[in-house]
Amino acid sequence: MQYTTNTLENHWMPFTANRDFKADPRLVVKGEGINYTNHHGDRVIDGSSGLFCCAAGHGRREIAEAVAKQLMEIDYSPHFQIGSPPSFELASRVAALLPEEINHVFFTNSGSESIDTALKIAMAYHSARGEGHRSKFVSRERAYHGVNIGGTSLSGLMKNREIFGSVMPGVVHMRHTWSPEHRFVRGQPTWGAQMAEDLERFAQLLGGRNIAACFVEPVAGSTGCLVPPKGYLERLREICDAHGILLVFDEVICGFGRLGKPFAAQEFGVTPDIMTMAKALTNGVLPMGAVAVRDSIYETINDAAPNGAVEFFHGYTYSGNPASCAAGLATLDIYEKEGLFEKGAALSPHFLDVVYNLEDLDIVTDVRGYGMLAGVDLAPGTTPGVTGTRAMKKLFAAGLHVKLTGDCALVAPPLISEKSDIDEIGGILRDVLANL
Ligand SMILES: Cc1ncc(COP(=O)(O)O)c(C=O)c1O
Repeated sequence: MQYTTNTLENHWMPFTANRDFKADPRLVVKGEGINYTNHHGDRVIDGSSGLFCCAAGHGRREIAEAVAKQLMEIDYSPHFQIGSPPSFELASRVAALLPEEINHVFFTNSGSESIDTALKIAMAYHSARGEGHRSKFVSRERAYHGVNIGGTSLSGLMKNREIFGSVMPGVVHMRHTWSPEHRFVRGQPTWGAQMAEDLERFAQLLGGRNIAACFVEPVAGSTGCLVPPKGYLERLREICDAHGILLVFDEVICGFGRLGKPFAAQEFGVTPDIMTMAKALTNGVLPMGAVAVRDSIYETINDAAPNGAVEFFHGYTYSGNPASCAAGLATLDIYEKEGLFEKGAALSPHFLDVVYNLEDLDIVTDVRGYGMLAGVDLAPGTTPGVTGTRAMKKLFAAGLHVKLTGDCALVAPPLISEKSDIDEIGGILRDVLANL
């Protein structure tokens, strides 16, 4: 056997310009608080909580110790027809954070799996009610719902779907909610609730009785923080109710305090039927996602199956994996003990001041923000994304990790950040973007 050291070549990296990266890599080798350390030993502030995961910051011993303890007790258990305590405990803890009517939690290993699970739950629910003809799904332009086959079909991002997008039939897309009127508007725009009428138009075109579910990110995250216009989510809820369509909130980024309240559902006062989550569920430490459903959905699917029969033919080998559950439980303990959702809500006005302050830079064409999430649009070059990639590299070299989607910088610091951290992030953004 031949051992090869010091090569980056064998790892085919996800969503990465592999050739470019491997010629000049950006590696992080340590994480502590809001900081990474790169392989040269330099500090790099984590301005995007990794990928919107690490709300409690890095290097949390409580999580590491809980996982280690769990692994020494029971390292793996199947969850098909057998259980182990951590998944039940975590489901109860998650349910306690959810809207009152939503108390049943199905575990997955990622946001993408949560989305595909939600699609199948919607199908199973309608089938159980004798409405299996509901085979259409509504999504939205600029949506990101992960990369599995279902999520790719729901995707509203051209690059993510142009080669693979048509694999699941029956998906239609509403228009996205961004409009030039929203430029530099802070929080929810007052104009644009009428975009929800797209759902009604699909109901008129396809027959509302044929639509199974409508999927939206309450704040569209990966595409650049598109905040829902006032009244928009409420109107989607009304239209769904009128036609028996399930409303699914993809809370993979919005959940766990990113917008102020535990979930966007509570922040915007609109209760969906199904909620998907992942990322900050375990502070990003171990892969885990979840789908939470209204009690009526759980009961309907169960009641349709004969006594003693499996009710929902779906699940993953690692659904409810004990170590991931231990990470989730320790993470929720931290959120609670340190009041991180409240801390994020209190820090948000300062964070938004700092980000919106970038408005005067020539290269900045729009800023959008809500809670502890913001999108800063940069003027694109001749090829979309080139400016964004340059910005990402220069920011990293200047000591700040920020996730760029195309030409939009997505800023989402850990909720443990202090005002001074936000100022430092703002300072680096200003210096780099002013000289891009
Ligand atoms: C809203 C949303 N849904 C789903 C996903 C997919 O999650 P994962 O990358 O864990 O599969 C993401 C990831 O960024 C997301 O932002």
